[in-house]
Amino acid sequence: MNAVEMSNFSAWYGRKAILDNISISFVNRSITAIVGPSGCGKTTLLRSINRTAEMEYAFSCRGDLQVFGKQVYQIKEVDTVRKQVGMVYQIPLALPLSIRENVLFGPRYHGIREQSRLDYIVEDCLRKVALWDEVKDRQCDAAGRLSGGQKQRLAMARVLAVEPQVLLLDEPCSSLDPASTGLIEELLTSLAEDLCVVIVTHNLFQARRIARQTLFMLDGSVIETGPTDALFSNPLDERTRAFFSGLIG
Ligand SMILES: Nc1ncnc2c1ncn2[C@@H]1O[C@H](COP(=O)(O)OP(=O)(O)OP(=O)(O)O)[C@@H](O)[C@H]1O
Ligand SMILES: [Mg+2]
Repeated sequence: MNAVEMSNFSAWYGRKAILDNISISFVNRSITAIVGPSGCGKTTLLRSINRTAEMEYAFSCRGDLQVFGKQVYQIKEVDTVRKQVGMVYQIPLALPLSIRENVLFGPRYHGIREQSRLDYIVEDCLRKVALWDEVKDRQCDAAGRLSGGQKQRLAMARVLAVEPQVLLLDEPCSSLDPASTGLIEELLTSLAEDLCVVIVTHNLFQARRIARQTLFMLDGSVIETGPTDALFSNPLDERTRAFFSGLIG
């Protein structure tokens, strides 16, 4: 089963159409990259999937959007959708709490109280994002003191702590150096053994390095999607070819 299926899905901010009749699917246990010029609707597409776009003024949508076979826009408890579909943003957000409490924010919200379980979650999630060894002796320090790359890994740990089945990442490496970027890419590759990972990136090399599938968007439409290698080496659409050769965007 595909993790995410959208069919004839459109979205608007006020009267302005942002996503136009999108029909795509994201495979489970795989990384899909979304590329396209600024303003083409990449972030709105991600935020439609975990139903955070509707937090914005005058957002509306129509069409079919399923996550593991369930119609996302028919679910009454929005929190369940946001737990199942985690999202990591471009600017790493460290909550004004300790490192440990950043990881535990979601589990506490969802009612986990047992100390041994909380300890397990902290270690497990920090290990998954390769941060445990760096911070295990200072878990109670303010998260705000971490470096940008560490904060981004912490943001991922915070999302993983509520055990999402789909992980959406919106340009997660755009403010990171090559070493931190390499770490995040390794992490995503290993997380994709269990999860559906969707990453928006402006870095075409990054898409090529880690994504099995790539999807190219322009003006709210999906122009072309397919195996990453095929899209890069032999795009079918002239607009895809132009984008990959640097002529658009
Ligand atoms: N909250 C909002 N209210 C109204 N319009 C919005 C809102 N958020 C985004 N838009 C508009 O929707 C369109 C798509 O924006 P979106 O952020 O999805 O693009 P993007 O592809 O992620 O761009 P970038 O690569 O610059 O991040 C843009 O025209 C943008 O101005
Ligand atoms: Mg964006």
